[in-house]
Amino acid sequence: MFESLKTIGVITTGGDAPGMNAAIRAVTRVAHTKNLQVIGFKRGWEGLIKNNFKHLTPRSVGGLIQLGGTMLHTARCPEFKTEEGLEKAAKTLCTHQIGGLVVIGGDGSFKGALELSKHCNSLMVGIPATIDNDVYGTDETIGFDTAVNTAVAEIDKIRDTAISHERIFIVEVMGRQRGFLALTVGITVGAEIILVPENRCNLDNVVEILKENARKGKKVGIVVAAEGCGKVSEAAKAIEEQTGSEVRLTILGYVQRGGSPSARSRLLASLFAEKAVELLLQGQGNRVVGLRNGAIISTELEESSKGYKPLDESLLKLAEMLSI
Ligand code: F6P
Repeated sequence: MFESLKTIGVITTGGDAPGMNAAIRAVTRVAHTKNLQVIGFKRGWEGLIKNNFKHLTPRSVGGLIQLGGTMLHTARCPEFKTEEGLEKAAKTLCTHQIGGLVVIGGDGSFKGALELSKHCNSLMVGIPATIDNDVYGTDETIGFDTAVNTAVAEIDKIRDTAISHERIFIVEVMGRQRGFLALTVGITVGAEIILVPENRCNLDNVVEILKENARKGKKVGIVVAAEGCGKVSEAAKAIEEQTGSEVRLTILGYVQRGGSPSARSRLLASLFAEKAVELLLQGQGNRVVGLRNGAIISTELEESSKGYKPLDESLLKLAEMLSI
């Protein structure tokens, strides 16, 4: 046991994700049941550098579980990439005698935590929270399920108008350079084609598939494209020219980052938070909690921040079969 642990810090960094507030709430309440104090730092790493903080109590995190976003705010912080910034952040941890820091964010956040761990004795534990679901070491990240549900609800609406006008729609979803969001959304909206950076389907394939569909009497098409594929407006123009169908483009954008977290995102947030506090109490630092085959586990921070999570390409085959 980490007997001398008295205070833990918590920050949210990187792109926000629905369920971050649920994780803040759970870290705070689980820690308080273990007689630990909790200090939240505002605006991610910047809050550590500027010592911009607030004490978190069971009462101060009431009414959070259902709110999207993060009550601690988040921000990109170039200064944190400098030695001086890292030293300032380390000094803040020391000043508050913070024995453990819970970093809620994505793989970029864990790279930062790894660097900070080299400048201080505080234990680092990551909680994976990003709509991209691209964190190595966990089957699922907080916020992914919510973003999928948001995108599915929006694309179901798009299908209504696509059917009315017998049009083809290209819908771009988020996910940075990865296709986890596009693949799951594509399957669950019954997309005719799914474009992911890992297995970019070139335009000729797309045109050929849509032409074949038209020959089979299937004039309506939904193409779900990960933003990492890029050039969606050019693709829309080319498809229209080469198929003769009317094509429209929708970029879903930031609606995927907001909204009340789904029950699943809230549950993951609560389970991950409990594991994070448990690891700190056991004196286990430089870990990232995660879900693997239904179990709550943890992975080495360095491995998680540098690992490449493969996309299950068998799901692409399933999507193809389902779209005939
Ligand atoms: O990482 C989450 C994410 O929403 C990505 O899917 C997207 O590409 C990126 O953040 C957008 O970053 P920003 O919020 O800085 O524009």
